[in-house]
Amino acid sequence: MKTMLNIALPKGRLGEKVLAMFEKSGFECPAIHESGRKLIFENPEKCVRYFWVKPSDVSIYVERGAADIGIAGKDILLEYEPDVYELVDLDIGKCRMAVAGKKDFRDDTTKTLRVATKFTNITKTYYASIGRDIDIIHLNGSIEIAPILGLSDVIVDIVETGATLKENNLDVRETIVPISARLIANKSSFKFKNEMIEKVACALSEFAASEDKK
Ligand code: PRP
Repeated sequence: MKTMLNIALPKGRLGEKVLAMFEKSGFECPAIHESGRKLIFENPEKCVRYFWVKPSDVSIYVERGAADIGIAGKDILLEYEPDVYELVDLDIGKCRMAVAGKKDFRDDTTKTLRVATKFTNITKTYYASIGRDIDIIHLNGSIEIAPILGLSDVIVDIVETGATLKENNLDVRETIVPISARLIANKSSFKFKNEMIEKVACALSEFAASEDKK
């Protein structure tokens, strides 16, 4: 029996781009293009099995070995610090993690700063690095509303085009870190399926580099 490479793809717009990268790199899977609600697809000829998972869950599948490799945003890797190898920066899904606030907000450094975010780990690490006292307010979405309603002074969130901030009268105050999609691998898979994983990693990094030059 052939050894298959199990690949966790992030469901959604980024996932479609990622799948196209895999397919153009020689790891196509015709079955995945059939419409329906199926989540697992394989192409035994190419020894690949793809499955769609929630983007923030990719690193869980990979860390626990249910997937050998996967594509995760750097935001998720920094937030959850999964025990995986980060192999390639795919140079897609680019955005940044930033602090944003109301246009007229002035930081009073004598007071604890109230920060609303989904990314509590990234936020704590960032403010600890600059020695600023904060009160974290963990939210699950629509973070931009928090400073408008006075729930927080600022937010830490992903900014891509900046449209969401603009439409809610918020400004970026500081950029914490640039974000992009990364190819990650399970540590033991990397040992035992090394040849296959290296082949994928090489093909994807060559593909990402050639796209960059276009
Ligand atoms: C993210 C983020 C912002 C928005 C930024 O939300 O939380 O709300 O994208 O993008 P922009 O700068 O292009 O406007 P996402 O759509 O990923 O969903 P979420 O609300 O679940 O975080």
